[in-house]
Amino acid sequence: MALPTPSPITQSPEWQALREHHPDVAGSSLRRLFAEDPGRAERLAADVDGVHLDYSKHRLTDETLRLLVALAERAGLSERIDAMFSGAPINTTEGRAVLHVALRAPRDQQVRIEGHDVVGDVHAVLDRMAAFAHEVRSGSWSGQTGEALTQVVNLGIGGSDLGPAMAYEALRDRAGAPLTCAYVSNVDGSDLGDVLARTDPERALFVVCSKTFTTLETLTNARSARAWLVERLGEAAVGRHFVAVSTNRDEVAAFGIDPANMFEFWDWVGGRYSLPSAVGLSVMLAIGPERFRQLLAGFHAMDEHFRTAPFEANLPVLLGLIGIWYTDFFDAQSTAVVPYAQRLVRFPEYLQQLDMESNGKSVDRWGRPAAAPTGPVLWGTVGTNGQHAYFQLLHQGTRLVPCDLIGFGRLPTELGDHHDLLMANLFAQAEALAFGRTAEEVRANGVAPELVPHRTFAGDRPTSTILLDELTPYALGQLVALYEHKVFTQGSVWGVNSFDQWGVELGKALATTLAGQLVAPGAPAPGAHDGSTDALVAHYRRLRGRA
Ligand code: F6P
Repeated sequence: MALPTPSPITQSPEWQALREHHPDVAGSSLRRLFAEDPGRAERLAADVDGVHLDYSKHRLTDETLRLLVALAERAGLSERIDAMFSGAPINTTEGRAVLHVALRAPRDQQVRIEGHDVVGDVHAVLDRMAAFAHEVRSGSWSGQTGEALTQVVNLGIGGSDLGPAMAYEALRDRAGAPLTCAYVSNVDGSDLGDVLARTDPERALFVVCSKTFTTLETLTNARSARAWLVERLGEAAVGRHFVAVSTNRDEVAAFGIDPANMFEFWDWVGGRYSLPSAVGLSVMLAIGPERFRQLLAGFHAMDEHFRTAPFEANLPVLLGLIGIWYTDFFDAQSTAVVPYAQRLVRFPEYLQQLDMESNGKSVDRWGRPAAAPTGPVLWGTVGTNGQHAYFQLLHQGTRLVPCDLIGFGRLPTELGDHHDLLMANLFAQAEALAFGRTAEEVRANGVAPELVPHRTFAGDRPTSTILLDELTPYALGQLVALYEHKVFTQGSVWGVNSFDQWGVELGKALATTLAGQLVAPGAPAPGAHDGSTDALVAHYRRLRGRA
């Protein structure tokens, strides 16, 4: 029996209470909140298994947190968590379970979909991946000419690229074998062309990574890479130099990869949640099966924390609720993530898909217009680089941009005093953003009166500081799961389905039609599209000499 449709969360007394509470906080300042409450820094911080979260530099009080937790309870977050972890089909528009948490469940755990335990399937694939990785890393799986395969090229896009590319970059110092990975995603031929130009066909292993195995960019790149290899080593080489990662055995076979060389995952794994599945194969090849299992253990530890910790002390829930506070009550349009770790250079880009493809929704789970603003624009780059680019706006612009600043006690490659300087910058930015510099302080420094307004910092720019001991596979797993469950928390409160992505379909369909029209012998009839698109197609055809 279908459950009754709940009224929109914005009509709940909990939402109303937050509305009424908002002016009290907005009218205060972080300077005042800290001055009046000496225990604030210690109280508004949490430590979970080596992850330290300081959320004291947020524009909130204990009362705000109490009201936000009440909102999460009203939204049924506990029930949503139980439903996800138990394999209920919470991706309702696609009729699927959402079980990325089963990808990192220990071997002895059971998670059932319609009576079938999926954890056994997960470990069977992990074992196959591990055996393959051992063979490739030891050289016993060699290429057509007998050379060891040391140049892995992952061909994928979106969730089949961003996760493994981010994790490889984060962990590549721990490779422990002379094996490198490159990631090709764009259908712009220079992406593949650049990688092939530095790849030795005798040493290349192509991992064609696509959940559907129908994605235009990936299949186009895979066909071109296959042709490149066949031209150099002959058709027989494909079997040793190409493997697939997919849910679609038929399409893998149709492409010409033996399904015996396919590593499977399942429709209950969303693309943007697929790093801990076979989509992580390139990462496992690079760092080895043992370290890959440490990555999964980090994910699982955060899963268990999210599933069991009370909301008041639950890191993903806290991050999620604080984000809702800014998006819906302070009207913040965006949020920035700034890792102070060069090896996390691809982390913000990875989070963009995770967050914006999940919660960039304007319709709720019941098909109604979303009652309040949902997912913010997520952006960012590594620190300190961002400080010399967009931090001006963060400090003195007219927009409120809450930021997550991520740092480590240790990084894999340290040089002289670089790391201390890096972290000094993280702490300095958080302090400057929160507390600013008043006009009196600026004047007291002897600044000329006409420059005082320019050199004043309003402060009250909120940050979370997330500190981890070391950038290990385990810590990376924790960090990714932290953000996955933050996104889940927010989607649950907003009442959206965080696990579909219908918004990408229209453009894909139009591109398929347009691809034919760009190259057809005759120009498309006027009116094939709107006037602007017709004119652009005609212009492009002229540029390509097809007028
Ligand atoms: O276009 C969006 C999307 O469907 C993502 O959700 C997905 O991660 C990506 O395309 C790649 O899809 P696939 O793994 O099926 O090639």
